[in-house]
Amino acid sequence: MKKLLSVAATGVLSLSLLAACGSNSASENAENGGSSESAEAVSLRLAHNQPEDHPVHTSLMELSTLTEENSDGNVKIELFPNGQLGQERDVIELVKSGTLDMAKVSASALEAFDSNYAIFSLPYVFQSKEHYYEVMDNSEAVQEIFQGTKDDGFVGIGWYDAGQRSIYTADKKVESPADMNGMKIRVQESPTSISMIEAMGGAPTPMSYGEVYTSLQQGVIDGAENNETALTNSKHGEVAKAYTYTEHQYVPDVLIVSTKMWDKLSEDQQKAIQDAASASTESHKDVWESAIEESIKASEEMGVTFYTIDKQSFIDAATPLHDTFKAENETNVKYFDEFQSHLK
Ligand code: GCU
Repeated sequence: MKKLLSVAATGVLSLSLLAACGSNSASENAENGGSSESAEAVSLRLAHNQPEDHPVHTSLMELSTLTEENSDGNVKIELFPNGQLGQERDVIELVKSGTLDMAKVSASALEAFDSNYAIFSLPYVFQSKEHYYEVMDNSEAVQEIFQGTKDDGFVGIGWYDAGQRSIYTADKKVESPADMNGMKIRVQESPTSISMIEAMGGAPTPMSYGEVYTSLQQGVIDGAENNETALTNSKHGEVAKAYTYTEHQYVPDVLIVSTKMWDKLSEDQQKAIQDAASASTESHKDVWESAIEESIKASEEMGVTFYTIDKQSFIDAATPLHDTFKAENETNVKYFDEFQSHLK
């Protein structure tokens, strides 16, 4: 039923998007075959689900500014924040079909479209922020995963730090998997995240990000898990007052582009975007760090308490998922080992 609803919603969105698109999107008018020097100017549409005061929106604005600068105004990127073009699942569909040019989505949401993305949702796969950055910046496996969906209609061309994810509930600190018993915890629509919450002792409830606030407020779920900006930028701190640092995942945000659009851009246009993406990934690291500090302060003012715990019991409960993941196929083993090889 849920699936049917989301497919129906996607249909409606594509139609309204087409109506809103006007006539100058890359998918419609750039016919340069990936090489022309004097490529026709394009305006690309990029959707994401965060509000305009979110640090990722700030860095996507930087992406847009730098792209325009790098291309001397030849490539523009217009942002559609706030989930106005749909939830993550919807916008991935739109990018895949070439109706939308670009989107910024969580790597967890991409798992439903390509199982190779599962590795980013494996709990405790990254040992530290340094390890996470090292892998995201230098891993060949990441590039292989990002390029691997080319024939399915989209590729990843960059990533943004989306911090560490931890559990938050209405008012209960969770010190061990036993404390999570029977608690309905919202997770992203990612099979690995569902298994993770099960392993950590809770009852996983997958739903889109846009539904979380109301579900917390109405008691449909007992908690959720995310980085600290969920409390402030998405206002979850109004209805969830206990944030426990289980620090179970670092899930990157991924910048995806439609293959259809990308192949129509000239090499110079592609380079302008690619260089801007790399530069904005880099500047985002500082943007993120200060945003998290501010989020913590603002959350405390909203009455949220942050609990630091000994997370070993959660690590013990969740890491058997690594073996399950590796037992699935050889590619998983290869990616897992490659990620670990970046540990210093
Ligand atoms: C993070 C991520 C979003 C995602 C959200 C979620 O905030 O940056 O892209 O939608 O988590 O939990 O769904």
